[in-house]
Amino acid sequence: MSTRIKFPANFLWGSATSAFQVEGSPLADGAGPSIWQRFCHTPNMVRDGDNGDVACDHYRRYREDIALMRELGLNAYRFSISWSRVLPSGRGTVNAAGLDFYERLVDTLLQHGIEPMVTLFHWDLPAALDDRGGWLNPDIAGWFADYATVVFRRLDGRVKLWATLNEPWVVTDGGYLHGALAPGHRNRFEAPIAAHQLMRAHGAAVKAYRGEGKHRIGVVVNLEPKYAASEGDADRAATARADAYMNRQFLDPMLLGKYPEELAEIFGEAWPCWPAGDLELIKQPLDFVGINYYTRNVTRFDRDAWPLRAAPVRQKRATYTETGWEVFPQGLTDILIWVKQRYGNPPLYITENGAAFFDPPTAQDDRIDDPLRVDYLRKHVAAMHAAIEAGADLRGYFAWSLLDNFEWSHGYSKRFGIVHVDFETQKRTPKNSARLYSKIIASHGTMLNEP
Ligand code: BGC
Repeated sequence: MSTRIKFPANFLWGSATSAFQVEGSPLADGAGPSIWQRFCHTPNMVRDGDNGDVACDHYRRYREDIALMRELGLNAYRFSISWSRVLPSGRGTVNAAGLDFYERLVDTLLQHGIEPMVTLFHWDLPAALDDRGGWLNPDIAGWFADYATVVFRRLDGRVKLWATLNEPWVVTDGGYLHGALAPGHRNRFEAPIAAHQLMRAHGAAVKAYRGEGKHRIGVVVNLEPKYAASEGDADRAATARADAYMNRQFLDPMLLGKYPEELAEIFGEAWPCWPAGDLELIKQPLDFVGINYYTRNVTRFDRDAWPLRAAPVRQKRATYTETGWEVFPQGLTDILIWVKQRYGNPPLYITENGAAFFDPPTAQDDRIDDPLRVDYLRKHVAAMHAAIEAGADLRGYFAWSLLDNFEWSHGYSKRFGIVHVDFETQKRTPKNSARLYSKIIASHGTMLNEP
């Protein structure tokens, strides 16, 4: 029997974006280039040669965007800080204008009654640090903690929710193993090193925060439940590898202080032996875990799938998004309960959830009907409620994304926004999914009980 949906009054209802995907003006006011700036301006890396030079022009239009959030009734906003706006070379001299921008952003949010959640690293590594080895250089833990400290000192009075990293798995899988994302490496030996240094940097920043900050800090990971395609041994072992690689590679070290066993098998001779002290640094007490949930995988053994020997099975009767991800709301309930059970019921946020679908052109009356996204939102909010009923300590939800934006190597070809952006004119038009989201928020979810 399903229970009536009603979310707690203090639940955070937000939307999420990241600096490089929405801000534009990546080199303005003394900012240094990031690896994404370089990647976009290297031929054939990003679809249609798209880049982040203008994006949603949020760097200049943030007031308008915050007013829109207010109009929609959002009470939280998750955004990221561009490291190379604050420290153009990644270390050393602070660029005051860069830090000032984020201070204005935070102040404007607070004036509108919107709680900021700040992510310190959402993939746009300063290019100058990449020149020194980036996430492969063990010194990066110190560089990251120093950068984080500069930001904490300026904003911790006003920002009460901090996240160190966004999706370290994607950084290593896309950036160092398969190469579709910046810095575009394809190297089995580098991926586990980058993963480890990301986590050392996370640990160092959390440690720094305990000395500097007064509020709450956590991390954001992307999780995808893996379900075995059959009960056969080969499929089940493949599923365990896929699960270890994606879901446990980061959470186990950060929350339990150890790596999952399967990783040594996956990486073989490329699996490094780390000093024991590193895991002590990595495992810092966290105030929350942020989960980005988009889809699930049904997994089978595949000898040729490198390096996991596991591959997803396409589901015949399912709906798939424009990025090829199966729509599977039950997976959100399942993953929240899994985290609760495996990691001792930590406070949780859904820090991203959403879908790219093809949106029809704006109608005359400025309405955009996006029925597939409407359906996605409805079902995922209900799935999240089911997890709360089952005891998950879930405290907020951030829709990905507020705006259609720069979808990394897909350029502007995939639209995830609940608000449509006309990239010629920068006009914003809330889609029907945004209107639905407003109603969900205003009713604490109770409107979802109606058919
Ligand atoms: C990332 C976002 C991205 C979204 C959709 C997440 O992996 O954090 O930056 O746009 O998913 O692909």
